[in-house]
Amino acid sequence: MKIKSAEFVMSNSNVIKAPKDRIPEYAFIGRSNVGKSSLINMLMERKSLAKTSGKPGKTQLINHFKINDEWFLVDLPGYGYAKISKKKRTIFQYFIENYFKEREQLVCTFVLIDSRHDPQKIDLEFMQFLGNTGIPFCIVFTKADKLTPTKLEKQITSYKGKLLEHWESLPTSFITSSSNSLGRDEFLSFIDQINKDVADDFK
Ligand code: GTP
Ligand code: MG
Repeated sequence: MKIKSAEFVMSNSNVIKAPKDRIPEYAFIGRSNVGKSSLINMLMERKSLAKTSGKPGKTQLINHFKINDEWFLVDLPGYGYAKISKKKRTIFQYFIENYFKEREQLVCTFVLIDSRHDPQKIDLEFMQFLGNTGIPFCIVFTKADKLTPTKLEKQITSYKGKLLEHWESLPTSFITSSSNSLGRDEFLSFIDQINKDVADDFK
């Protein structure tokens, strides 16, 4: 898929106020600092469309980006950021959960996992929540450039093996790096295919 346009539409903390356009939507979620905003910039070939930071907790709202005037990308706050106050964490959790429960346009969610990490409880629980809520999701392994190819392969195989201890089958997964654009074509082709598959539902 060729990216002809990518524009920021709005940020808000309540899904009710999100854009009303009936177009397919894709959300990026995962632990704070895993690389959600960076991945959006890499896919769109834009340096700072989504705001990134070396410090966790940068994205704090639901951010809608309209791509090619045909679909939305949504950058969400990360979960599992320990330094945030308890009150704020509860508010976050509430509006993120609400987003997933209420957003009818959402066709697929990408759960981002740092390629270097073993499965963590919070990610497994979040995937379980998506499963229970009936939301299709894929796994995106990020920061692949931080491992050697051999270590990367070993780590991903091990991660998938551990997921299979919890589930019968694995979701579609991607291996990406925002530093060297690894996985970009595959990722965009996947979205392109879903857009075609769901076109009738959005007429
Ligand atoms: P929050 O908004 O805080 O939840 O974080 P986020 O998941 O949006 O992460 P963000 O994209 O802001 O990236 C966090 C840090 O990781 C930044 O310093 C990025 O430069 C770095 N980073 C993200 N992706 C990659 C990658 O693929 N490779 C490398 N080497 N660094 C990355
Ligand atoms: Mg972010």
